[in-house]
Formats: sequence, C-alpha cells, structure tokens
Amino acid sequence: MKLLSAALAGAALAAVVTAQSLADALNKHSQFSNFTDLLRSHPDLASGLVPATTADRRTILVPNNDAFGKLTISIGSLPTAQIRDMLNYHSLVGEMTAADFSAPSGLTVPTFLTSAQYNNRSSGDRLNSIGASTASHSGQVVVITVRANSKREFSVRQQSSTADVTSGLANKVTLTALDDNWEGGKIQMIDGFLTLPLVCTETIRARDLTSLDASLNRTSLSSALDHSNNVTCLGPSNDAFLQAGSPDKNLAVADLSKALLFHTLSEPVYTSFLKDGQTFQTLTNDTVAVSIKNGSIYFNNARLVEPNVITNNGLIHILDSVMMPLSSQTPSPTQSGSSPTKSGSAQTSKAAAPSLAIPSKTWNILELFGFVVAILLW
Ligand SMILES: *[C@@H]1O[C@H](CO)[C@@H](O)[C@H](O)[C@H]1NC(C)=O
Ligand SMILES: *[C@@H]1O[C@H](CO)[C@@H](O)[C@H](O)[C@H]1NC(C)=O
Ligand SMILES: *[C@@H]1O[C@H](CO)[C@@H](O)[C@H](O)[C@H]1NC(C)=O
Ligand SMILES: *[C@@H]1O[C@H](CO)[C@@H](O)[C@H](O)[C@H]1NC(C)=O
Ligand SMILES: *[C@@H]1O[C@H](CO)[C@@H](O)[C@H](O)[C@H]1NC(C)=O
Ligand SMILES: *[C@@H]1O[C@H](CO)[C@@H](O)[C@H](O)[C@H]1NC(C)=O
Repeated sequence: MKLLSAALAGAALAAVVTAQSLADALNKHSQFSNFTDLLRSHPDLASGLVPATTADRRTILVPNNDAFGKLTISIGSLPTAQIRDMLNYHSLVGEMTAADFSAPSGLTVPTFLTSAQYNNRSSGDRLNSIGASTASHSGQVVVITVRANSKREFSVRQQSSTADVTSGLANKVTLTALDDNWEGGKIQMIDGFLTLPLVCTETIRARDLTSLDASLNRTSLSSALDHSNNVTCLGPSNDAFLQAGSPDKNLAVADLSKALLFHTLSEPVYTSFLKDGQTFQTLTNDTVAVSIKNGSIYFNNARLVEPNVITNNGLIHILDSVMMPLSSQTPSPTQSGSSPTKSGSAQTSKAAAPSLAIPSKTWNILELFGFVVAILLW
C-alpha cells in the first residue's frame, strides 16, 4: 500500500503537462485575450512555455490587455527568437504566490531566460540557496517588491494584492496576484511587458546616468564592463557626481579608473540578499559595508536611491553620492571631490591610491582588471 501510494505520488510528480491546462487557466480572464491570441498564433512558442513534466514548476507572469495596449510595436511581428526570449523572461522558476511576494525585503526570482545576450551572469550561492532544489537558478532574474502601503493588504486580502516587478532598464510593472493554478504551476497578471536586460552602458544611457557614462567613456572602461559577467555597478547619480566636484570631468583618468573599480563588485548583489553589517570586496580590493537604517540601504556613506536596475551581466544600484572608502584617514581618488568647495582638478588628486590587489573572487572580471592595471602602468 505504502509502495503503491509512493509510486502514485511519483507518477503524479512526473505527469505530463498539457498546453490545454494553460489555455484553460488563461481563458478564465477576459483581460488575457491578447496573450491568448499571441500564443494561438505562435503554437511553437506556446509549447515552449509548457514544461515537460509537472515536476518542473513555474509561474507565468501574463501581460494583460493593458500591457499589449502600451506596446509601441506589435509583439507578434518580432523575430521568433526574441518572442521566445520575452516569454522565457516572463516564466519564473518555481511557484510564486502572494505569500512569496510579501517578503519584506523583496524577492529575487530567476526566470527561464538564459541566452547570453540577456543573461551573462550566473546564479551564485545566494540565489542557489533559495527555491526548490530541482530548479535551475542560472536564468536572468526579476526583482519583486511589495509596495509599502500594500504590505498589510498582502497578508490580509490576497486576491487584490499588488507588487512591483523590476526588469531591464529599471522598468517596473505592477503584478496583481491571481495565484491561479495550471498543471505547470501558477499564473499571475502584470500590466506591462518586462524589459529584456541590456548591457551596462546601454542601461546607463537609458537611465540618463550621463556622468557615469562619461566617466566610463573617458577611462575606456565601457566595453570591458559590458563584456564582464557577474557585476554589481554601484553607480552614483548625476547629482552625486556634481556634489563630488565632477570627478567625471576633473579627475585624472587613472584616478577615475580606480574610482570606478572601487564602485564595482564582482558578484550580482540584489537588495533582497542584503543585510545590515554585510561587507563586500570591490575590484580595488577595498571593503564596502552595507548598512540598513530606517528602511534605507547604504553602501558605506552612499544611500541607495534606485535599487536593482537589472543588466544582462548583473545589476546597477544607483547611489545618491559618490562612495568613500571606509575609515580611510588619507584622501583617495573617490574623496578628492567629496566636498563641493574643494577643487577636483586633476593635479590635486595625488592621493593615496586604494590598493590594487586582485581579489581572489574576481577571476571573471580579470580582463577588466587587467585593462585598468595596463592603463595605470602606462
Ligand atoms: C487586445 O484585445 C482587445 C479586446 O479584445 C482588442 O480590441 C485589441 O485589438 C487587442 N490588441 C492586440 C494587440 O491584440
Ligand atoms: C559575456 O561575458 C564574457 C566574459 O565572461 C564575455 O567574453 C562575453 O563577450 C560576454 N557576452 C555578452 C553577450 O555580453
Ligand atoms: C560568477 O561567474 C563565475 C564564473 O563565470 C561563477 O563561477 C560564479 O558562480 C558566478 N556567480 C557569482 C554570484 O559569483
Ligand atoms: C559615450 O560614448 C558613446 C559611444 O561613443 C556615446 O554614444 C555616448 O554619448 C557617450 N556618453 C557621453 C556621456 O558622452
Ligand atoms: C525614517 O523614515 C521616515 C519615512 O521615510 C521619515 O519620515 C522619518 O523621519 C525617518 N526617521 C529618521 C530617524 O530618519
Ligand atoms: C585583498 O583582500 C583580502 C581580504 O579581503 C586579503 O586577504 C588579501 O591579502 C588582499 N590582497 C592583497 C594583495 O592585498
């Protein structure tokens, strides 16, 4: 008897998922008619959304008709490979419900988007430690955060709960929790399409981070940054550059390079994994300390003003000020312009450089690092 029920459970786990069960779940909602039409006209893509067996659980974020209305292009007319990447990005690994979305520090969820153009990063320990052990966590992520004012509502009235889903170029859409079942897992509704994550520099330009962009151009680091994987770019806002005396214009190229590396970590650090007191190593082998005060996240002195801007190789956290080294007694390049009254001219930055040792965990960015070392030696 025990064996029989175990066998039955095993059979249930491995049952085949039918495309019809997805169609049935979608058909319950009139606002999914555009999505249903899209799948009907691309049956091959529709079958790509359906896992082979029920052991592979997923959550499909279904763009509603409003989402289709916001598009400036007809998604059905895009190249098939691009629609497939889009659909893969809208498929979350695991069954995600309103209860998951209500995590106070947000949720970083891997998707089935794995093509390198949009996902040149790998999961790492922190992502691997969450979710079902059978799931693959190597796909590109979305970050889901419940809005402060709906936190309570989330736990009380699940059906009308909403959350923000952040994707590429810091695009945010609103998720409405349906928690509807189909054989492959769950479906949830979103009011806009997710944006496929692009390389850092394109993201930086799309977010109008002009000073950061100019700094990367001046130091010729743009291409190296775009072709590294597993990157967290701690990107000061334009105001932050201005307040620091415009190091993008005034700092010597070698010092500016060091400052940029000081603002780069060699692993994707999504805010949902951050804890007060945590430290990370920068590409200059300096330590960056995270502090969480009154709901705000700081990297050293700099406050995080726009978190989790997803890029194909990791993410950008936008900061309200240029980061200063921890407990540094001597001025460093990143500090030379920290006070607006202090001149940030290139000649004044004969500062104690951060040590240029190669951190043991940055093999994947060695090329970027080697490039800068070459600049510095030159
Ligand atoms: C979406 O559905 C609405 C209502 O059925 C229809 O008027 C509209 O043309 C559809 N849009 C697309 C892009 O399919
Ligand atoms: C991905 O990163 C590797 C370095 O790890 C780089 O060589 C490659 O060009 C990158 N690919 C894309 C599509 O950005
Ligand atoms: C980063 O990339 C390396 C090699 O590509 C990989 O081993 C590592 O697990 C990745 N993830 C993190 C979070 O460092
Ligand atoms: C940086 O260089 C790129 C490519 O040449 C250019 O398109 C962009 O406008 C430059 N950015 C700034 C802020 O000058
Ligand atoms: C904490 O944050 C709230 C809301 O952002 C603000 O009103 C309050 O003044 C802050 N308290 C402190 C001590 O900074
Ligand atoms: C880089 O930092 C680590 C500690 O974070 C230290 O063990 C290592 O010696 C440093 N490397 C150099 C060459 O200073």
